[in-house]
Amino acid sequence: MEVKLAESAGFCFGVTRAMNTVEEQIKNKTDRKIYTYGPIIHNSEVVNDLKKRGVESIDLPEEIPGIAGQIMVIRSHGVSREIYRIAGEHGIEVRDATCPFVKKIHRIVDEKGREGFHVIVIGDAGHPEVQGIVGWASGPVTVINSEEEAEAFGTDKSQKICVVAQTTFNAQKFQYFVEIINKKGYDTNVINTICNATAIRQKEAADISMQADKMLVIGDPKSSNTRKLYEICRSNCKDTYHIQTVKDLNNADLQSGTCVGITAGASTPNYIIQEVLLYVRGI
Ligand code: F3S
Repeated sequence: MEVKLAESAGFCFGVTRAMNTVEEQIKNKTDRKIYTYGPIIHNSEVVNDLKKRGVESIDLPEEIPGIAGQIMVIRSHGVSREIYRIAGEHGIEVRDATCPFVKKIHRIVDEKGREGFHVIVIGDAGHPEVQGIVGWASGPVTVINSEEEAEAFGTDKSQKICVVAQTTFNAQKFQYFVEIINKKGYDTNVINTICNATAIRQKEAADISMQADKMLVIGDPKSSNTRKLYEICRSNCKDTYHIQTVKDLNNADLQSGTCVGITAGASTPNYIIQEVLLYVRGI
């Protein structure tokens, strides 16, 4: 059986950087406790391991006062301006591992808001990255995540619009929503902020899933970029499995395949990918 592993599978640059930031804090241990704002990555295996090594996570702004004076690592998704303010008020040592590509979007929505633009963020309003981006807007901001929401968008005809995207958004859907918005006739400035790593990963997943008759997408169910990879692969290969670790392969019928493709989300550690690879090669 042929096995095709995507070269882009696993940690992206931003996630590697965030993980290294946490590891550095553990290594340089002081008497301050280490917290992350939200799980450092969407991977419960990794988060549980960090917990055993003394790294806790908090999830809500209201929890920040309770960790006054400690260390707080901001993950690659970034956070709103408000979170920095609250952390500053409580003497928290912030270690900022916001991915530079996300930081760039924060700057755009801040500047464009000041210049009088209405900012549209194409992405999932419930995703922490999008919540962080919205939290940097200096003017009106709308999140659009569906065709219906794009169609329904409307504001004053003289209003300038700036469109950005959640870094992990599907590139084709983004273009489609932009076309819908463009037809409305506003003075629109589109800044495609989809991360290259995501586009490359999605393209490679599409290519491999077109050739494979079984496809494995490895990642935590909470990882939005993994779910998007699954959607892409499933549209090309009906036998696509979303798994978290090699243990989830028990029920997968891989024997009947002649070509198994493997990809993984940006928050999947390399050791998990290697375990799956070894298992599949052993069939
Ligand atoms: Fe950054 Fe792109 Fe990863 S935005 S966190 S390098 S997917």
